[in-house]
Amino acid sequence: MAKILTLGMLKPDAIASGKAGAIIAHIQNEGFSIRAARLTRLTPAQAGKFYEVHKDRPFYADLVAFMTSGPVLPMALEREDAVAHFRKVIGATDPAEAAPGTIRKLFAESKGKNAVHGSDSPENGVREVAFFFPESEIAGLWG
Ligand code: CMP
Repeated sequence: MAKILTLGMLKPDAIASGKAGAIIAHIQNEGFSIRAARLTRLTPAQAGKFYEVHKDRPFYADLVAFMTSGPVLPMALEREDAVAHFRKVIGATDPAEAAPGTIRKLFAESKGKNAVHGSDSPENGVREVAFFFPESEIAGLWG
């Protein structure tokens, strides 16, 4: 199976808790290579655009407020079956429902403050990697 990219992003709670290093080690131990990464702070417009698909959901305003409350660390992660495997590694949206050993079970505190984001389909992986990283930084990585 060819290696592909997914977008993994450490959320403001993960950065603020000082657990970013432990979470990145966990991700690398699962066989992911970090091909691009950046510590950045989203504007409300950027967070709103990134989560546009949820704009009619009741939690949208809270989600945008939380995602702009501190720095985030988006990463282009490469691995075979990257999108599906990363979803497995991060666990269910709600840490209370996440499987033992998953990042959200180990490091997240609530459905909103859930430590990490992962693309939910290969199509969104392409869109979300391109959202954060210019073509010049990821050229040649799509296999
Ligand atoms: P994420 O995987 O980043 O994708 C959308 C995010 O919306 C999700 O993680 C959660 O953090 C957030 N979210 C989903 N459902 C709820 C909810 N009921 N209340 C608050 N936030 C939510």
